Amino acid sequence: MKLHRHALVLAAAAAAFAAPGHAQQAAPLKVGLMLPATGTFAALGTAIDNGFRLYVAEQGGKLGGREIEYVRVDDESDPAKATDNVNKLIKRDNVDVIVGTVHSGVAMAMARAAKESGTLLIVPNAGAAAVTGPMCAPNIFRSSFSNWQPGYAMGEVAAKKGHKRMVTITWKYAAGDEAVQGFKEGFEKNGGKVIKELNLPFPNVEFQALLTEIASLKPDAVYTFFAGGGAVKFVKDYAGAGLKKSIPLYGAGFLTDGTLEAQGADADGLLTTLHYADSLGTPRDSAFRLAYVKAYKLQPDVYAVQGYDAAQMLSVGLAAVKGDVGKKAEFAAAVEKAKIDSPRGAFTVSKAHNPVQDIYLRQVVGKENKTIGVASKALADPARGCKM
Ligand code: BEZ
Repeated sequence: MKLHRHALVLAAAAAAFAAPGHAQQAAPLKVGLMLPATGTFAALGTAIDNGFRLYVAEQGGKLGGREIEYVRVDDESDPAKATDNVNKLIKRDNVDVIVGTVHSGVAMAMARAAKESGTLLIVPNAGAAAVTGPMCAPNIFRSSFSNWQPGYAMGEVAAKKGHKRMVTITWKYAAGDEAVQGFKEGFEKNGGKVIKELNLPFPNVEFQALLTEIASLKPDAVYTFFAGGGAVKFVKDYAGAGLKKSIPLYGAGFLTDGTLEAQGADADGLLTTLHYADSLGTPRDSAFRLAYVKAYKLQPDVYAVQGYDAAQMLSVGLAAVKGDVGKKAEFAAAVEKAKIDSPRGAFTVSKAHNPVQDIYLRQVVGKENKTIGVASKALADPARGCKM
């Protein structure tokens, strides 16, 4: 009898729920933001987080009809802690989607966990080739770039400028290695030669001995990949060592993105390549920049754009599956055929799930990375090793 009454109560509740005027309320969608909040990439993590939340707020706090709920983990840009950190989100917090991260080594551990568990992963920065190469999967996407893309574009630019002998300098980890490999490919294909590849462990910033070596090698120019706090120190040390006057310095755009306040005049005139610039002047970018400044009282940078676009990609996929992240094939199909209306300029997503995008040539003028032109139009990562 008791059981019967209980069943009736349940049935009444279900009927009331299904009755017209009582639209069914979907549970919130849990987004796990795994980003650095400390260390040399801390500011990058904040900008990504800001950008992501800005897009969600612009949609009234919902994507695909579901409220967005956040869980945040500081990954410290430490690959040794990455597997534990990502498993906290997947197994303890039961997130529906993981968004992260900045550091390529950490992102590879995240991609491994996403592949094993089937959890949806959107990478809003880390350019590791493996993520959209050998580890590519229907549930793994990137809203940013591959390390190869800005490197390759700058290799072509440097060769066209007539440089023949160049030295590279970077941190010894996936991002640095791949940025240099991309640069070398573009440069050497066009007649240049990388005569020496210098590096130091991440996140070390003791550059003096390497700068002395550059001075003695006397290359035509130098190519570099550094980002965040390390990029600030490198640009200042390069100028401080007196090299800026005699040996042109080129970089992946991370060298001068989000760093110009701290670098001051030492960054003036530097040429870099990246999929974003401060002076695009398109209505889409201007609206984004205005909204970002209003929300955070900060200027946006490439990391903020990548966070914003991670939310846009999630939105496109969720709209197609009406908020049901379990429908992975439909989610992927929608993102693969979408044109993402990014502040950087509209981009498409490759079969391997990496942006196919314009790479701009930029020059530092005062506190801005001004656009000089497009170094490489609709550049697609080669996605070597991706079988999808
Ligand atoms: C990376 O580790 O992939 C990375 C970090 C900072 C800026 C760009 C790339």
